[in-house]
Amino acid sequence: MKILVTGGTGYIGSHTVVELQNAGYEVVILDNLNNSCLKVLERVQEITGKKATFYQADIRDREALNRIFEAERPEACIHFAGLKAVGESVSKPWEYYENNISGTLTLVDVMRQHGVKNILFSSSATVYGDPTTVPVTEEAEKRPCTNPYGWTKSMLEQILSDIQNADPEWNVILLRYFNPIGAHPSGLIGEDPSGVARNLMPCLTRVAVGALEYLTVCGNDYPTPDGTGIRDYIHVVDLAKGHVAALKKVSENCGLKIYNLGTGIGYSVMEVIRAFEEASGLKIPYVVKERRPGDIAANFADPTKAREELGWKTEFGLSEMCRDSWNWQKKNPKGYRE
Ligand code: UD1
Repeated sequence: MKILVTGGTGYIGSHTVVELQNAGYEVVILDNLNNSCLKVLERVQEITGKKATFYQADIRDREALNRIFEAERPEACIHFAGLKAVGESVSKPWEYYENNISGTLTLVDVMRQHGVKNILFSSSATVYGDPTTVPVTEEAEKRPCTNPYGWTKSMLEQILSDIQNADPEWNVILLRYFNPIGAHPSGLIGEDPSGVARNLMPCLTRVAVGALEYLTVCGNDYPTPDGTGIRDYIHVVDLAKGHVAALKKVSENCGLKIYNLGTGIGYSVMEVIRAFEEASGLKIPYVVKERRPGDIAANFADPTKAREELGWKTEFGLSEMCRDSWNWQKKNPKGYRE
């Protein structure tokens, strides 16, 4: 079975391509390389021994999409491509809405014109906003997002749901990711944020390689046991395997489905620092500063539905996540750049 993966050279995309190839799927990658590079393709091939077909193209480019669908005739699409920097989305809302929303509308239109009506969409736990109770189930209400990036995820969930509702031939699975960290255990692929790192693990590994002097802990006055924010960190390889499980569901003509992809366990910033220190044998200097605007105290998943309906559950714990993030950063101190 042939799968088109948009954004397939990105962090989650590349790990998913590995798991798809390992599971026997034929993979076609479409990526504009806006936030990734060609070296990822060599690394993926080194891991799996299989070559993915690659097209450098933009999801907003209808003609390119038409050519690719014509030539490749994929049966399903896993749609990762999109802009994803929370802070940047606040200063460039037009770019985020245009890229993420227009791009997805174009992709979906080309898909249906070619009779391809199976899509897995890369959504986020950000659609729950500041949840009233944790762990959150898929039935929890969606709440206001705190930035345009989050709104693009929330709106695209609605758009794809409406499209499926109007045409039941569509199979749409919305996958709500919690906080992916870690890297492939080989250390060949991993997260490589361009510019200034903003998320917790990339900041931590940059401190560990000496590229940053200390880690900023963004607030220790939250209503949590140690005062720092609690999140559901998930190993990116487990997350990638969640997509393989979801593809099987799509081939059963599932209609519209929504799944949380998380471990169900929340860890605080201080717990992550300690786990990273243990995994790396390093001391991580940190400074507690003020809360980051838009941050919430705690969010973690109830992953029961994915376990019951997809037969998927996470295998890696926080120590393996830290071990593999560190292994990747240590082997590639400047990411994919030499
Ligand atoms: C953010 C986005 C989410 C996105 C995810 C992955 C929001 C509100 N959040 O999640 O949509 O899917 O990134 O890209 O839109 N922290 C520090 N120091 C740092 C960085 C982070 O203490 O230098 C803390 C944060 O306050 C938070 C935790 O670490 O408590 C995790 O932060 P982060 O990795 O940025 O992820 P989220 O904010 O949960």
